[in-house]
Amino acid sequence: MENIQNLIERLRKELTRHNALYYDKNEPEISDGEYDALVRELERLEQEHPLFALSKSPTKKVSGYASSSFQPIKHAVPMLSLDNAYSREETASWYERTVKKFNDSKLEFVIEPKVDGVSASLTYLDGILTVGATRGDGETGEDVTENIKTIQDMPRKLKIENPPNFFELRGEVYIDKSDFEKLNEKISCLGGQKFANPRNAASGSLRQKNSQITAERNLSFFVHSFGKVDGKQFEKQSEFLKYCQDCGFKLQSDFKICSSFGEVSKFIDMMFQKRDSLNYEIDGLVIKVNSLKSQNELGSTNKSPRWAVAFKFPSKQATTKLTKIRAQVGRTGMITPSAVLDPVPLGGVTISRATLHNFEEIERLNVNEGDIVLIERAGDVIPKIVKVARKESKVFFKPPQKCPSCGGEVAKENEEEVAYRCINPECPAQFRRRLMHFVSRNAMDIDGFGEAVVDQVLEKKKLRKLSDIYRLSYNDFVGFELFKDKKADNLIKAIAESKKRPLSRLIFALGIRHVGEKVSEIVAKRFKTMEALFAASLEDFLKVSEIGEVSALSLKEFFENATTRRVVEDLALSGVSMTETETSKKGSQFEERTFVLTGELEKYAREKAAEIIKSLGGKVASSVSKKTDYVLAGAKAGSKLEKAKELNVKIIDEAEFEELINI
Ligand code: IVH
Repeated sequence: MENIQNLIERLRKELTRHNALYYDKNEPEISDGEYDALVRELERLEQEHPLFALSKSPTKKVSGYASSSFQPIKHAVPMLSLDNAYSREETASWYERTVKKFNDSKLEFVIEPKVDGVSASLTYLDGILTVGATRGDGETGEDVTENIKTIQDMPRKLKIENPPNFFELRGEVYIDKSDFEKLNEKISCLGGQKFANPRNAASGSLRQKNSQITAERNLSFFVHSFGKVDGKQFEKQSEFLKYCQDCGFKLQSDFKICSSFGEVSKFIDMMFQKRDSLNYEIDGLVIKVNSLKSQNELGSTNKSPRWAVAFKFPSKQATTKLTKIRAQVGRTGMITPSAVLDPVPLGGVTISRATLHNFEEIERLNVNEGDIVLIERAGDVIPKIVKVARKESKVFFKPPQKCPSCGGEVAKENEEEVAYRCINPECPAQFRRRLMHFVSRNAMDIDGFGEAVVDQVLEKKKLRKLSDIYRLSYNDFVGFELFKDKKADNLIKAIAESKKRPLSRLIFALGIRHVGEKVSEIVAKRFKTMEALFAASLEDFLKVSEIGEVSALSLKEFFENATTRRVVEDLALSGVSMTETETSKKGSQFEERTFVLTGELEKYAREKAAEIIKSLGGKVASSVSKKTDYVLAGAKAGSKLEKAKELNVKIIDEAEFEELINI
């Protein structure tokens, strides 16, 4: 085992390296949460082994430094950092300790959001903004006056009578989430390296040599504290904040004066819920003693004041190794990549997969197998890859030239399309997907024919075409894993039962491109029999006002094509109903299904999604309960998503929703 002294030394070196990447380059290799964990580990070791504790350890001083690219500015009062608390208990224990020191159970605290930006100091001389500086190493910062002056949020001249002759304010320079997204998109279009998070973007933008670039970045500012002040006395932090507002500064709307830990705790709950809906990133809350006299009595260490603590929210980001880029073939042949990751804990779950959307996304991220990636889970069900944190691969990833399932030819349907498709209609992966779709709940609804059964019938070669389903007998299921006799009996019954499904379900089950459940119902209602569909011309499909051109063309192609016609004929020969009977098991596909919509949906406004669900016979409820069938969750989904997970309700994203309605 590594000896303690070496371990401490290694951790210190590691932290110093990460500090440089974070503060100087704005290109961290690890997430904030992982950085904090390293600091905590070093703190623990230093406490347990005081012999090896050093005053110059990264745990004992403000991290960061002033780069020589800017003029140094010596802070009149050091700019400190904050001690962190990672749990309610740690926060409560700091709170109780502080109250005890004053023996005042009514001691007031102010609780404010901890904006995830970069610390800055603004000096106003006789009310005029004169100097702007970064925190640097806490003693000396960087002169970024010209850049600071490009930020619209702060007054050039304080809007009050008789301003203090020296007023050094401190606050957080940050970038709005929306501006951050736009900035990263622009950087990535220009082939540059994206910022990992808004904090790095704010820091990188504030420390530009050309203030024109800073101006373009649309930075914002919130004031939170002060340094040296001559000509004005404050008694409370809350009074100071109000004064800043009068001076023309923007204040955070969420801050609260509390005099019990219960109130603090409630505010933490409220802000945790609200976190994702704010248009700027917060990584926690800062709890401060309100009285400035009491603050002075408590004083500070070299690193942080004793009168404040930062309650940190759990990190949304983590880094891990991307071990494999897997290409999956859908039922229409579309090949989509997804990332297999070394399992990593994030937000209470272990993550081992991430979405990659399409092959263009891989190119944009310049990611390949072996790279260390930064992943983020911000309300979304499946995490996404934010960027490559450390490049390990030497070559570019190439989209598959051949279908990963059948080895057949791969093509793009047209120039604009980003997706690659396997064009082999016999492709086993496509067939597997088609089969899964055919038997699924909203299609032929064959109860018990789940993914595990699909995989086993295919592996045991019991099935080569869709109509073979209707030739399966009890003996075919002998020896299936997790398959008891009763289950086989029930499955055979369910298969037989499915022959009676109405035409609308059969049309949907056939998985015709651009023909979802709604179009299937319309087509079945209008044409009534499969015979009529076989005979229909393109014009006949186009005549139905609810059917668009794309669906009409696809329907025509499907019912005209000899191979797909044969699939239907085989099903007819197997006894599958080819008419739209009135005896449908369910009136419409979503009948008795309840949906809850949450988070920000990208493609569909909530109203639109609700309209679709209702038009398909479903219900939309406002809260999640055991009766909920699906939770359609967009980005930044909060408590409803958590509830759904708790109750084991099926959570779907927009892509899965589209699959359900088969767009
Ligand atoms: S009070 C001793 N209030 O967090 C510093 N800081 O991790 C007193 N921060 O360097 C700062 N939001 O830049 C304070 N509402 C808030 C804050 C806040 C963000 C930053 C600050 C500080 C860093 C420490």
